[in-house]
Amino acid sequence: MKVMVVGGGGREHAIIKKIKKSPKVSQIYALPGNGGIAADATCVNIGATDLERIVEFAKENQIEFAVVAPDDPLVLGLVDLLKAEGIPCFGPEKKAAIIEGSKAFSKELMKKYGIPTAEYAIFEDMQKALDYLDSCKIPVVVKADGLALGKGVIIAETLDEAKKAVRDMMEDKVFGESGSRVVIEEFLTGPEVSVLSFTDGKTLIPMVSSMDHKRALDGDKGLNTGGMGTVAPNPYYTEEIARRCEEEIFRPTMEAMNREGRSFSGCLYFGLMITEDGPKVIEYNCRFGDPETQVVLPLLDSDLFDIFLHVSEGTLDRAEVNFSDDAACCVVMASSGYPVKYEKGFAIEIPEDVEDVYIAGAKLSEDGRLLTNGGRVLGVTERGKDIREAIEKAYRSVERISFDNAFYRKDIGKRALAALEK
Ligand code: AMP
Ligand code: GLY
Repeated sequence: MKVMVVGGGGREHAIIKKIKKSPKVSQIYALPGNGGIAADATCVNIGATDLERIVEFAKENQIEFAVVAPDDPLVLGLVDLLKAEGIPCFGPEKKAAIIEGSKAFSKELMKKYGIPTAEYAIFEDMQKALDYLDSCKIPVVVKADGLALGKGVIIAETLDEAKKAVRDMMEDKVFGESGSRVVIEEFLTGPEVSVLSFTDGKTLIPMVSSMDHKRALDGDKGLNTGGMGTVAPNPYYTEEIARRCEEEIFRPTMEAMNREGRSFSGCLYFGLMITEDGPKVIEYNCRFGDPETQVVLPLLDSDLFDIFLHVSEGTLDRAEVNFSDDAACCVVMASSGYPVKYEKGFAIEIPEDVEDVYIAGAKLSEDGRLLTNGGRVLGVTERGKDIREAIEKAYRSVERISFDNAFYRKDIGKRALAALEK
């Protein structure tokens, strides 16, 4: 089949490398892809939110299946447009993607259906939000309702900081219309776990759990980033916690969406916090996580494309979905200065025997060399019999990859290891 993957980061590279192995896939286009993805797919220079041109491209090139990976085209309704042209897709329709597109929607959903999450209040009026903050326990969490490139969440350590966050979002519109509504939320504590799942709205199959490392610097210091590394499985996700999540969160969420007439088909991502009162939802995403995908998919022993087909046909109950008992670790190599300011255009050297390299920000020069072209440049994933081995192997591979101004965290997986040794 001729397949199109919308998106152009490390997550998309991991998806493409995996579906490329399927005997059912004959050709893969990436829109827009990137210089590294170009080794595994035909890159087409159309942006992931250029919906009209994407649909046009799909029609003109007889695309037989589309995978829409990033949040924005999903929330904008790309899947609806492609399906209207008769092109089957992996990814939720617009009315289901709202589970990520609006935090107010997801909080109301959880409240209505009794799904555990932090206490909260929603405001469209700035003065009311500011007044409400006076009654809140500090720290408190202020969130812009809509998509904000992962930056719309402020953990305020003081009342002043919380009020500033509300003003920034509602008055100064630092996140545009995404901040015209805000959610003010109780601050929860506990280890975080990411669980991606396949669902067709009838069956939901959780993938292996993982742990993200969002801060830029070692010891979870520095600014929030798109993710500096991941390990899987997540040691905090014990069998007991997994059972509770399935009963109290995963299945109820799928059923709640069905009852709302917003049946979710695709990858539903649960961002969880394991609190003293049990697991609670911190956020839903309507897509694969980045860089979670880069550790989860390498552990999938089944045919990913076959699973995509089953999800889109509503027959996930008949799909073979098996994960290895191994562990995996992905270390992200970024450009020094990320996530604020960084230089681009340095040559990247990757030895041929380092296989699981997922390129996020790179382009090809005219003479075909791979050059850095973003903050997060690439992720290196290695598998091992346990987390310790996976971490050691991942860092050994990182040391063999080079580009000027490269920077990476040295402690990916350290917290997971400490948890295992407790
Ligand atoms: P989100 O974009 O919703 O995933 O939020 C980004 C990060 O903020 C999460 O991964 C958590 O570390 C943190 N966070 C969000 N909501 C809360 C909360 N209610 N309590 C504590 N931390 C939170
Ligand atoms: N790694 C977090 C996300 O993809 O939203």
